[in-house]
Amino acid sequence: MALRTVTRKLGNKFFPLLSSTSHLHSHATSFGFKEVKEEEKAAMVGNVFSNVASNYDLMNDLMSAGLHRLWKDRLVSKLNPFPGMKHLDVAGGTGDVAFRILERINRVKQRGIQRDFEDILEAETKIYVCDINPNMLNVGKQRALQKGFAEDGSLVWVEGNAESLGFQNDSMDGYTIAFGIRNVTHIEKVLSEAHRVLKRGGRFLCLELSHVGIPVFKELYDLYSFSVIPSMGEMVAGDRESYQYLVESIRRLNLQEKFASMIADAGFQKVEYENLVGGVVAVHSGVKI
Ligand SMILES: C[S@@+](CC[C@H](N)C(=O)[O-])C[C@H]1O[C@@H](n2cnc3c(N)ncnc32)[C@H](O)[C@@H]1O
Repeated sequence: MALRTVTRKLGNKFFPLLSSTSHLHSHATSFGFKEVKEEEKAAMVGNVFSNVASNYDLMNDLMSAGLHRLWKDRLVSKLNPFPGMKHLDVAGGTGDVAFRILERINRVKQRGIQRDFEDILEAETKIYVCDINPNMLNVGKQRALQKGFAEDGSLVWVEGNAESLGFQNDSMDGYTIAFGIRNVTHIEKVLSEAHRVLKRGGRFLCLELSHVGIPVFKELYDLYSFSVIPSMGEMVAGDRESYQYLVESIRRLNLQEKFASMIADAGFQKVEYENLVGGVVAVHSGVKI
């Protein structure tokens, strides 16, 4: 903190024009452990995900030893999706969460066929996968084709920014964001947009890497994150820097309580969270009443 103040004072002294301009036009925000101008962050995050898109799913499995699959399953079981729902998965990337939602809805429909429940079978489901990065969405569209979801028409891929969504007010039954919130520039704007697009009774769920409270486990986890993951990124994807950013960005939102109060400040009620694996990951949720 003191170092930052001294640097700012020296900056004012030696580069008065530069200092005053940046003061007027930009605020700093975090990009991993670095501070960058707010207006630069989205492009920098965009670069990271353009670089990792083609290896993203493989690296997710390697980095989490496959655990991300269980965490996403937990997110979707908490959502409890239903046929006919309008759902928005923001920062949806390559579609992992959306596919799980659709698979679950299809299972419910299958039971509906067996019991001849016509209203369940006729309801039109829409699951919107919204992401700012077209490369991630393109990988997702390819995966949807391979999984046979393309003809179904329930999945809709939308390029868009979580901070200013192109969806109508009160239009969604559910909203999920998995491993996305730490990458955005203004978390408050994302929460406010989530609240705006949800219908009354609609549910907000966020899955995110979080704060590990148990001391020895925390040290082991830090060692793994900072030493193993960037090296793995270099070996498998030939890209150490992007994975260094991904690890550093985890520390941005490392207090579950603080994030819960931000969700409540955005207008959500019944706000709660569940820690998974000692807080490595948390699922936060809230309802628009
Ligand atoms: C770690 S990936 C998570 C992808 C997917 N949800 C999953 O869990 O596999 C983060 C995603 O957030 C997207 N993203 C980053 N900033 C965004 C923003 N402002 N609006 C929408 N998506 C964003 C990135 O492009 C990337 O696809």
